[in-house]
Amino acid sequence: MAFEPRMIKVAPSILSADFGRLGEEVSRLKTVGADWIHVDVMDGAFVPNITIGPGVISAIRGWTDLPFDVHLMVDRPERYLEQFVEAGADFLTIHVEACKDIAGAIDKIRKLGATPGLSLNPDTPFSAVEAYLSSIDLLLIMTVPPGFGGQPFRRDCLSKVGDALGARDAHELDFEISVDGGIDRITGTECVAAGATVLAAGSALFKAPDMAAEIATWQRLDESIQSP
Ligand code: DX5
Ligand code: ZN
Repeated sequence: MAFEPRMIKVAPSILSADFGRLGEEVSRLKTVGADWIHVDVMDGAFVPNITIGPGVISAIRGWTDLPFDVHLMVDRPERYLEQFVEAGADFLTIHVEACKDIAGAIDKIRKLGATPGLSLNPDTPFSAVEAYLSSIDLLLIMTVPPGFGGQPFRRDCLSKVGDALGARDAHELDFEISVDGGIDRITGTECVAAGATVLAAGSALFKAPDMAAEIATWQRLDESIQSP
């Protein structure tokens, strides 16, 4: 059977954008060919850093029609789901370590009209998310400890990408497999080879001399792996 390469989705993280010009930055991401916009929400409790909240998301919502891939690094995220969906989240991802009633939160995100995602930290085993795979559309595998951009990729997390692909195929599920943290062209290639369908990245994309060319290359990584 002929090999059909998958197009990889690229989700630049605005954590690496110029926060003083966030509207223009978000608007530029469409011009350079991004698929989604990754929005890192940090509460200073689940992670040591504090970033942006629903007010900022709703302020930048009008600058683009690209999907907002909102990554909640927030303790007890169930308290804020309505606010983030109202602000304009398309994908809304919670952390398995941060929430007691995961199934309830996933269900609520869907009922609110957004697409539910679940994320796990580098030291959290894949078994922690297994029970929820049939009810999510996005699994966000952290490849750095969450909290800051610019950290080195944790190669030991790659096996979870393989686990996710295996579970998805075995149970005929259909969730996206995203990786987040330390992703560049090299680590992104490794993740795509292991089964990732979405690459979320801040530093490597915002520092690239030509972001459009970089995104286009990443979108075709599956092709380059199959026919080097
Ligand atoms: C880290 C965030 C990431 C971050 C990635 O906690 O979840 O999305 O923006 O940044 P880089 O690509 O610089 O590692
Ligand atoms: Zn993130």
